[in-house]
Amino acid sequence: MLSSAPQQTDSALAELKNLAQTLLPRLVEIRRHLHAHPELSGQEYQTAAYVAGVLSSCGLHVEEAIGKTGVVGQLSGKGEDSRLLAIRTDMDALPIQEMVGLAFASRHPGVMHACGHDIHTTLGLGTAMVLSQMSVKLPGDVRFLFQPAEEIAQGASWMIQDGAMKGVNHILGVHVFPSIPARQVGIRYGALTAAADDLEIFIQGESGHGARPHEAIDAIWIAAQVITALQQAISRTQNPLRPMVLSLGQISGGRAPNVIADQVRMAGTVRSLHPETHAQLPEWIEGIVASVCQTYGAKYEVNYRRGVPSVQNDAQLNKLLENAVRDAWGEEALQLIPEPSLGAEDFALYLEHAPGAMFRLGTGFGDRQVNHPLHHPRFEADEAAILTGVVTLSYAAWQYWQSIPM
Ligand code: NI
Repeated sequence: MLSSAPQQTDSALAELKNLAQTLLPRLVEIRRHLHAHPELSGQEYQTAAYVAGVLSSCGLHVEEAIGKTGVVGQLSGKGEDSRLLAIRTDMDALPIQEMVGLAFASRHPGVMHACGHDIHTTLGLGTAMVLSQMSVKLPGDVRFLFQPAEEIAQGASWMIQDGAMKGVNHILGVHVFPSIPARQVGIRYGALTAAADDLEIFIQGESGHGARPHEAIDAIWIAAQVITALQQAISRTQNPLRPMVLSLGQISGGRAPNVIADQVRMAGTVRSLHPETHAQLPEWIEGIVASVCQTYGAKYEVNYRRGVPSVQNDAQLNKLLENAVRDAWGEEALQLIPEPSLGAEDFALYLEHAPGAMFRLGTGFGDRQVNHPLHHPRFEADEAAILTGVVTLSYAAWQYWQSIPM
């Protein structure tokens, strides 16, 4: 029994790679269709209908409008193992005018798949297509989550609210990464992305003549003190081994050049990796704002809104992905990512319901000096990544029931 298992595994891998290879022209067609028809967050109506159509044609049980424009497809296996594995891919595009010059360029002016979610959707569909052809041998069920509105960090919570995670034991996710060459996969143990929260600060001073500042309370000057105090306090009061970033991307205030401003509004994003850092942020920020404002007699309001938490990859699921990459593509396809990102990903919200892991799929062109980053109007993905991604996900799913202990 023990000696026959690896052989069975090898033949399953060969079958699965074969299936993916055969499907590849169709997958490239799907990807190009999606790329040419990008839709903004929360408006993925055509994409969702297209996804639902492909899933239905593979024999999956499909539910639409899960999380507004989200789609859920469930693939039934043999029912030997009751544990349910979910695979999440996102579908939305960005308000960016594409400048790549592809034959299958976006046909929607000002909208572009600049974050590779067209590739993600293709991977979800490709994996469903491959596994559906092997479902008679699949020990358990796989649920495919096609998520809307990732770019506005809303879609995951919409889908969860509509029950997409009900019964799910583990979840896998993927994001393309242009700085990793195509045909390679990045795996990161521990934190992959940061917690991202929204910050808004109002400072209320008192208006007055620009020539007589002592008779007023200058909200602009106090705002400048607040900004400086916050940035300095990060360096002096936060543990430097637990990274955090506070970026104020908006500031407005003042009525005229010679009138002292009575009001300033600032808004920004706060990123952190460590749960303890994350937990104390609202109080810490408010304390600094309060002390500066009280010193100079201003009133203030701090609105701190929790966004998405940090993606913390589960070690067992990560190992499942790592082994799938190594078995399918060899050691040279594997990159162990040494550092987390301070970017954010609402995949983290699924991890509040089930352990899981997300990997980075290389889409960089190995022969190019410059691979434009995600969210860039010239971002382009090497389609060789599609085969790597589909086989990695399919094989990780295939191995899931026997690799992860009950
Ligand atoms: Ni993205």
